[in-house]
Amino acid sequence: MAQNKNSENYVRCKTIIVGNSGVGKTSIIQRYLRKFNPNEKSTVGASFTNKEEIINGKTILFEIWDTAGQERFRSINSIFYQDACVCILTYDITQKKSFEDLKEYWYGAVLEQSSSNIIFHIVGNKTDLFDQEQVDRNEVDEYCEKIGAEVSYISAKEENYTYVDMLFTKLGEKFLESDIYHECMKNITMNKTEKLKVDTIVEEDDKKTKRKKKCC
Ligand code: GTP
Ligand code: MG
Repeated sequence: MAQNKNSENYVRCKTIIVGNSGVGKTSIIQRYLRKFNPNEKSTVGASFTNKEEIINGKTILFEIWDTAGQERFRSINSIFYQDACVCILTYDITQKKSFEDLKEYWYGAVLEQSSSNIIFHIVGNKTDLFDQEQVDRNEVDEYCEKIGAEVSYISAKEENYTYVDMLFTKLGEKFLESDIYHECMKNITMNKTEKLKVDTIVEEDDKKTKRKKKCC
């Protein structure tokens, strides 16, 4: 059952998806939302969407920023990286350059703008084209070890939702176990305590005003 939005079991998870233009970022997100479009247009700037997922008794609201891979949007897109909890670093398994750029540009660009606790997850997309695979998976494993990430191989095109669903389940599980989740929950609890204090002060002030009104 989905949790009430004010419950401690309801948590927001800002998620960004980055990578070169054409690797399939928008297609992955659209597949996750069950709206895969084979004629997807290149993203301009960034687009936002969200989806709730119940994982281990908690409701996670994935707030997903699908960013544009084209070079001309690089500087403007960095504003979307701030406060991200999860970053999906995407490459196209048939395009070696997309993996090289992931290592040389995307990882660093996100890290520069985000919390050191951000969760990085690598996605090798287009596994339906496995016979054209250009990137050595051992090389990907080595890189994962270097940056402390995991990798998932998926196809946004195949009529099989489980790949993408499994990806988000995995991301949710990692998020719930992570330091960034605890950071996030601490902030929510702090905000609630602050609100409680403010409400009490306002109530006290109200009482004083009423008392004053009575005596004068
Ligand atoms: P930008 O918005 O320009 O950054 O690109 P993007 O990463 O969002 O790529 P997009 O989702 O627009 O996909 C680019 C092309 O790849 C489209 O023609 C998709 O249909 C195709 N595509 C996406 N995912 C897959 C996949 O898993 N397999 C195959 N064969 N094609 C895919
Ligand atoms: Mg796109």
